[in-house]
Amino acid sequence: MIDELKKEIEGARRSFGHELESIQSPEQLAALKERYLSRKKGVVSQFLARLKGCLPAEKPLAGQAINQFKEFVEAALSAAGAAGFAAAASGAWDDPSLPASELPVGRFHLIADIQGRIEDIFLQLGYEIAAGPEVERDEYNFTKLNFPEHHPARDEQDTFFLEGHDDLLLRTHTSPMQVRYMLGHRPPLKIISPGKAFRKDDPDSTHSPCFHQVEGLLVDRGIHFSHLKGTLEAFCRSFYGPDIVLRFRPGYFPFTEPSAEVDISCFLCAGRKTDCRVCKGTGWLEILGSGMVHPQVLRNCGIDPEEYSGFAFGMGIERVAMVKYGVPDLRLLYENDLRLLGQFG
Ligand code: DAH
Repeated sequence: MIDELKKEIEGARRSFGHELESIQSPEQLAALKERYLSRKKGVVSQFLARLKGCLPAEKPLAGQAINQFKEFVEAALSAAGAAGFAAAASGAWDDPSLPASELPVGRFHLIADIQGRIEDIFLQLGYEIAAGPEVERDEYNFTKLNFPEHHPARDEQDTFFLEGHDDLLLRTHTSPMQVRYMLGHRPPLKIISPGKAFRKDDPDSTHSPCFHQVEGLLVDRGIHFSHLKGTLEAFCRSFYGPDIVLRFRPGYFPFTEPSAEVDISCFLCAGRKTDCRVCKGTGWLEILGSGMVHPQVLRNCGIDPEEYSGFAFGMGIERVAMVKYGVPDLRLLYENDLRLLGQFG
């Protein structure tokens, strides 16, 4: 009994396939559906009615075979229906004057968009892009970058260490890529390295435990501070606007000497408005950290500081989004609300 039923189901499957192939209109498709799936006289219902005649031991297998056939017919009909809509829109079946259904178009996330723009500018300046790992060695994230043994940034409160691996952590900045690149390449070096960084910060309007940075590094013979200034000026004018003025303030980073925090003049009010929403009336916007690569860092990476010198800089991409595009709260960038994201990219 069951073998016979299975053979018949196989036959029905074949003829269904042939019938489906010859469908020319939505009406014919509906009729085919009726013929196979209608509760009263449909082919599937007729198979089900025959379950009664099966031996009890055969019933589960027979039921399973019929169900599989039913699912096959349903899936094939709905796929044909969807294809039919496409055909209708392209004029094969239906009114070609109907407006096409609107397809949502994707775009880059603001963070990816900003990263891409920054990369483009540095590519034009002849830099290479070198991405590095997010799980990093303590040695590259801190030690070779000249962080003293007890520097607070190494603290567990700031750094995500990997359980069971004291020497591995989620990089707290993109600067370890400087080390990786210098260890693997001889000067002249000219790279930017964009990517994610991680710190144990509680999320608030300006902090997130995961954020993005772009690191820059140039090492060659005879590199001095004016090269750093000229490079950052060229970048900022290209990115923020041609009239931007830069301000270098003394700063401290263990891996650069001297170090500088860089501000740009407010691109919205240029310092002329006391109630400016971008610079809050100060006229300046803090945008990045930078400096001349510390001789000890060069040495740590096998480069002779008597022969070579270099500069480095690092900027936060979220910070750029907030400053340049007026995103008021960094958390908005991670909530994936299309009302925000749809405005960019
Ligand atoms: N790594 C620093 C941070 O996350 C940023 C930075 C400062 C990078 C100065 C640099 C630099 O390359 O020269 O705060």
